[in-house]
Amino acid sequence: MSVKQNIDIQRLPKHIAIIMDGNGRWAKQKGKIRTFGHQHGVAAVKDTVESCAELGIKVLTLYAFSTENWKRPQFEINALMQLLVQSISKETPTLMENNIRLITIGDTESLPSGVSKKLKKVISDTANNTRMTLVLALSYSSRWEITRAMKLIGEKIKKGELDPAKIDEKTIDNHLCTAGLPDPELLIRTSGENRISNYLLWQIAYAELYFTSKLWPDFRREDLYEALIDYQSRERRFGLTSEQLSPDHA
Ligand code: IPE
Ligand code: IPE
Ligand code: MG
Repeated sequence: MSVKQNIDIQRLPKHIAIIMDGNGRWAKQKGKIRTFGHQHGVAAVKDTVESCAELGIKVLTLYAFSTENWKRPQFEINALMQLLVQSISKETPTLMENNIRLITIGDTESLPSGVSKKLKKVISDTANNTRMTLVLALSYSSRWEITRAMKLIGEKIKKGELDPAKIDEKTIDNHLCTAGLPDPELLIRTSGENRISNYLLWQIAYAELYFTSKLWPDFRREDLYEALIDYQSRERRFGLTSEQLSPDHA
């Protein structure tokens, strides 16, 4: 029996966020340079995107390049940007066939113009797709995003459009790059690192965290299914007691 059959389709998370990590180590294990690992990470992205869409996940957010990643060697940054352009062009038909909308979060203005041009095109081409939203976090970090939100809110207060006394959680939500998207219920990180690395700090307040030692280029749909089964085995209490959640068993 396939692992997939153990997934309860009625209790899927609406939004899965993934920190795709371990490309460099994967390449190193094979005696290759880091960029070889990035190239092989593309197959993992494709399999994950397709399997999420097939399952009925509504939003998938992939951490592709962080604000901090700009500090990597220029050669690696260039290779990652080139790979991004190539993959976007190559995979646009797959997005269309699978009715997937692509959007980005992050400081996309800091991306090379060739990359942002390609992105804008795919974003507009896929804008009316409805099956799943694929969010690419590019030049993204949560502190950058929260700082940006504070600036936007500050501007509105200054112009008299917003009363500081009326600021609530919804106001903050609405000024993040993820405005309008549900919070991720499940966050997956590959490569055995148990950290968040400046990813969706506000949005993952109540997400279930799942860490796997698999390196990203080896991650496939079966690994996603394992993560979902683990997620479904957990009791999400949101501060309540177990008895409050299922009074019958009190
Ligand atoms: C993740 O793999 C991809 C990016 C951060 C762009 P890494 O490149 O971080 O690989 P490791 O963690 O060094 O193995
Ligand atoms: C996080 O991975 C960013 C992405 C996956 C794009 P890193 O490899 O950059 O994170 P650290 O440095 O291990 O925290
Ligand atoms: Mg890493």
